[in-house]
Amino acid sequence: NATRRVAIAAALLLPFALPPSKAQAQTQLTVQHALPLDSHTGVGASTFKTALERLTAGRYRVATQRNDNEREMVESVQIGTIDCTFTSTGPVGNFVPEVRIFDVPFLFRDATHARGVLDSEIGQQVLGRFNARGLVGVVWIENGFRNLTNSRREIHTPADLRGLKIRTMENQVHMRAFTTLGALPTPMAFSELIPALQQGTVDGQENPISVIVANNINQVQRYITLTRHVYSPQVMICNPAMVARLNQADRALFQQAAREAQAANRARVTADEDAGVAELRRRGMTVVTEVDTAAFQTALAPAFAEWERTLDSATLRRIRDWR
Ligand code: PAF
Repeated sequence: NATRRVAIAAALLLPFALPPSKAQAQTQLTVQHALPLDSHTGVGASTFKTALERLTAGRYRVATQRNDNEREMVESVQIGTIDCTFTSTGPVGNFVPEVRIFDVPFLFRDATHARGVLDSEIGQQVLGRFNARGLVGVVWIENGFRNLTNSRREIHTPADLRGLKIRTMENQVHMRAFTTLGALPTPMAFSELIPALQQGTVDGQENPISVIVANNINQVQRYITLTRHVYSPQVMICNPAMVARLNQADRALFQQAAREAQAANRARVTADEDAGVAELRRRGMTVVTEVDTAAFQTALAPAFAEWERTLDSATLRRIRDWR
């Protein structure tokens, strides 16, 4: 009887043991994202995975992996060792300079403005620029608006920031902004941030509420100021050779899965921003809500003048005027 049971079990498992026939052939994709799976970026990546696997009835399988070094992820997509990444624009301007326009501080009024511009022809045109750099820009997702944390003091004005070492992303526009505000920007990958804060290599950092909550930055930083000094887009980037292998119908399914990922990511950022400040207070952070935003904008005047010259000023104007 035992022999019979083993034989029946083996027969039931047989279809799974057989190599897939041509009709059933599966394509494996690897998608990397920063931060834990249970974060706005993890939710974006896992929604893409579930959607693509569902839409293609399992012909595509997606493996999601965490990697907190975003520059490394973009390089891996470019050389094809991974297929796609969900990354902030932090390091992306070093590959596709046109992206830098979206990293300008105080450019977007709120999430509706930012999402509207990125989904409009302006955002789509910038996605089109990735091709010339050996990358495919698929869809804009986001981190939300960035805020400042530090271990030293409450920050209300640019004067309070003077002399503080602030970790920034490897992003020219952000570094220029912090230098102009009198801080000492120290660029590094996110994977190096927690030890740098623990060891006092830097006094502070800046990230959206979604990131600060997901990564427990409250454990190494006492003060948070709700500066909302810059919107932080994320973008899904894929390897061009992989995209070229998709037939037309699969390309449409791929886009649909990316749009589902975008909706899930944005909904999660909205929820994190709604609940996150109270959560950070509960975790013991001192939350500074009184921010002299006008003083920060005035102090940034020399940097704004430089970006008018070095970035596409006509598009900057179109973004500011967008309603
Ligand atoms: O600070 C960064 O490097 C980015 O905001 C992060 C946390 C990797 C998310 O894109």
